[in-house]
Amino acid sequence: MIQVLILYASSTGNTEEIADLIEKYLDPTVCETTMENIEMGDMDPQRLLQYDGILFGTYTYDDGDLPFETDIFCDTLRTVDLTGKVVGVFGSGDTAYDEFCAAVDLMKAEFKQQNARVIQHSVKVDLSPDEEDLQSIKKLAEEFQDLTTNSAATRKAGNF
Ligand SMILES: Cc1cc2nc3c(=O)[nH]c(=O)nc-3n(C[C@H](O)[C@H](O)[C@H](O)COP(=O)(O)O)c2cc1C
Repeated sequence: MIQVLILYASSTGNTEEIADLIEKYLDPTVCETTMENIEMGDMDPQRLLQYDGILFGTYTYDDGDLPFETDIFCDTLRTVDLTGKVVGVFGSGDTAYDEFCAAVDLMKAEFKQQNARVIQHSVKVDLSPDEEDLQSIKKLAEEFQDLTTNSAATRKAGNF
């Protein structure tokens, strides 16, 4: 089994809905999943290292920025080396804003900075996910599961 953390920030529930859908696309015989809202408390940086992969979700706030709780999480994130860990990023935004879902790209850059293997494909949803978003959500879940499985196997074999 691979250990997966789905961590998200969601003020009105849209990003949480995406998180729930992603979890449904992960195979429960392959992934042991922990789901957490980052508002629930301080994240111990060492805890991030307990997982083979992290699926991170955030909505976007003022002028394409990170919301407060995601910004606070970055302070923790910047203290860990995520070499060998796979990360997928998703989020909800609103196409009425110029910088649609910009926080998703900002978080991809943050995780790359910490040496994580960040999946190129990310999920950006206009408000709450609908039928049209399912393909994109499924693609992220499947790519994440495959890469994380391979990466964990390589690590076990002692290659890094
Ligand atoms: C003050 C404010 C600023 C926002 N700024 C942006 C923005 O720059 N870009 C964007 O895509 N969405 C922006 N949004 C929209 C939210 O990201 C959107 O409503 C999202 O669905 C909220 O997700 P949640 O339900 O997970 O909290 C903003 C919303 C508010 C209230």
